[in-house]
Amino acid sequence: MAEHHHIDHDDALAAAFDGQAARFERAPVQTDPEALARLVRFADLAPDSLLLDAGCGPGLVSRAFLDSGHRIVGVDLSREMIERARLRCSETDRVTFLQGSIFDSTLVGPFDACISRYVLHHVIDPPTFLLRQVELLRPGGIVVLNDHTSSPDPHQAAWHNAIETLRDRTHTANLSPGVIVDLFAASGLDLIRVVEEVFTLDFDEWFDRGTPTAPKPQVRSLIDAGPRSRGFVGRTLSGGRLQIECRRVIVRGVKP
Ligand SMILES: C[S@@+](CC[C@H](N)C(=O)[O-])C[C@H]1O[C@@H](n2cnc3c(N)ncnc32)[C@H](O)[C@@H]1O
Repeated sequence: MAEHHHIDHDDALAAAFDGQAARFERAPVQTDPEALARLVRFADLAPDSLLLDAGCGPGLVSRAFLDSGHRIVGVDLSREMIERARLRCSETDRVTFLQGSIFDSTLVGPFDACISRYVLHHVIDPPTFLLRQVELLRPGGIVVLNDHTSSPDPHQAAWHNAIETLRDRTHTANLSPGVIVDLFAASGLDLIRVVEEVFTLDFDEWFDRGTPTAPKPQVRSLIDAGPRSRGFVGRTLSGGRLQIECRRVIVRGVKP
């Protein structure tokens, strides 16, 4: 799978997430314990599963699955993220964190399950990202993907993704729920389950931990101007703060 390494993009991701690791691991949307508990429940893994946390970041997802009795291998491009993940789970040898790419040939399965949260919208080639996880699973293994989605309407999605890219230079695309489900089916995954959730971002908190390519007031006025998108709806609160109502999915599939 070495041909699917996108070295420049991987370098940009590592630099971006090295820089935002400290704020990322405190961000309300990432740390929300109830959302993590729902993710663990929806994953519905057999006890003591060996799980790959693909793009594990600071280990928040790994921690939740570890606490549910699973064993974890976490992999992430960012050295800073991996250091934080190791600190978060330092008391146990049931987890290993590796700095590198999910496409590294040194990463070998078989795993009982692969999970990724908030990684798909950073990858250049979503089908290959899914296929790589399927490759690393044993037959009967489970893929769980959790990500922020966009609209099935191409105009809304283009507007939404343009804003995301101005706020984060490593953003590739938020996909619609249906496109993500189709990615699962096209990867040969079976018995697909999907659930959608609403969550909110505080514009300032979200923007301030990004890696923007445009000034904050410009991005804010684009959101205010609309047209809005399913999965990204701005609302100005009475104190003047901008809140964004977003949608995410958790998708689960089984390798035949
Ligand atoms: C938004 S963060 C999510 C972190 C974590 N999954 C969570 O939800 O808390 C995305 C992470 O994916 C990592 N990443 C992106 N592409 C990757 C790849 N091909 N291999 C390994 N890590 C990757 C980035 O370095 C970054 O830390």
